[in-house]
Amino acid sequence: MTTGATTFSAESFIRPAITRMQAYTPIAPFNVLSEQCGLPPEQIIKLDANENPYGPSPQAAMALAQYPCPHIYPDPEARDLRRALSQYTGLPADYLQVGNGADELISLIVSLFIEPGDVMLNCPPTFGMYAVEADIRAANLVNVPRRPDFSLDVAAIIAAVKRHRPKLLFITAPNNPDGSTPAPAALERLLALPVALVVDEAYAEFCGHSFIDWVVRYPNLMVLRTFSKWAGLAGLRVGYGAFPPDVMAQLWKLKPPYNVNAPAQAAALASLRDADYLLQNVAKIRAARDRFLRDVAHIPWLKSFPSQTNFVLCRVLDRPARRVKDHLAAQGIFVRHYAAANLHNYLRISIGTPPQMKQVLQGLQSHEI
Ligand SMILES: Cc1ncc(COP(=O)(O)O)c(C=O)c1O
Repeated sequence: MTTGATTFSAESFIRPAITRMQAYTPIAPFNVLSEQCGLPPEQIIKLDANENPYGPSPQAAMALAQYPCPHIYPDPEARDLRRALSQYTGLPADYLQVGNGADELISLIVSLFIEPGDVMLNCPPTFGMYAVEADIRAANLVNVPRRPDFSLDVAAIIAAVKRHRPKLLFITAPNNPDGSTPAPAALERLLALPVALVVDEAYAEFCGHSFIDWVVRYPNLMVLRTFSKWAGLAGLRVGYGAFPPDVMAQLWKLKPPYNVNAPAQAAALASLRDADYLLQNVAKIRAARDRFLRDVAHIPWLKSFPSQTNFVLCRVLDRPARRVKDHLAAQGIFVRHYAAANLHNYLRISIGTPPQMKQVLQGLQSHEI
């Protein structure tokens, strides 16, 4: 654009790493989905983002409704929340940092370790934000694909570490989108490598297994968690992570002071006080997931994968997955569709309430698909 004597082209000033990037496609909110299918928002069954169908705990909802001082900045050290997380995780509070969702901690970790050209290892198919953050930092992202059953190819990761000398390796446990989790022995082998290892445990509560207490033993291990899934606070953006002391000291410098807003800290704190209630919801979701897995086993054109999370990945065998997704969407049921080369013709279905899952099953059994 030309204004007077000044000619300014934003693209020639913006970092090429960004102009080269593909834009990330975020999922649509209720009102947009509602417009898409012509049904009111309350009739939408939103199973495309692994959200919690039961919502927050009543105590968290009350903490939000009654939050007394939005005019005061939040505690930049989130002291009360980190103390409560220390009790919840069994780790000293000094090891724990909070973030604006686990997403922000992923971003901060990549900023902490990666300069342009540094190597970062990723094991796709997996959560997309690791690659996005790597691209933003102009990292040299090396992919070590998972095996056909989505398990980690540990030998290939070890070979890639020797060959490429990466600084950072992301492992999701359990993995999104398939729901499998690595065996402790596999992780031990990875932790013996000269690389900083991030284990993303966004779905830990559904899996019932965690590596978070290993952080005190391994100086190269970081573990991420979130309140988005088990605690039903996805909209508030509260995540946390466990970091070894040497990493933590540097992370404090990078963390924006007020990254987790005050009502979100209060709601997360209330969720931890009401953890028993929330874990009962987790148990209900796990039961609905196992029921759904048994039910979809009777649909001959769907191959489901065992899951330790609140979602189920299905390969659509003899018809376009997109058609199945569209058929469900027309009835107000939204699921995630994948078409990438390493996930061709797959659907990922988050687990809702039992009545919602009944509707999903009826939708899948329809002769119109
Ligand atoms: C593996 C994984 N990590 C992190 C996140 C993001 O969590 P948050 O909502 O805390 O940013 C997700 C969200 O779907 C996820 O699947």
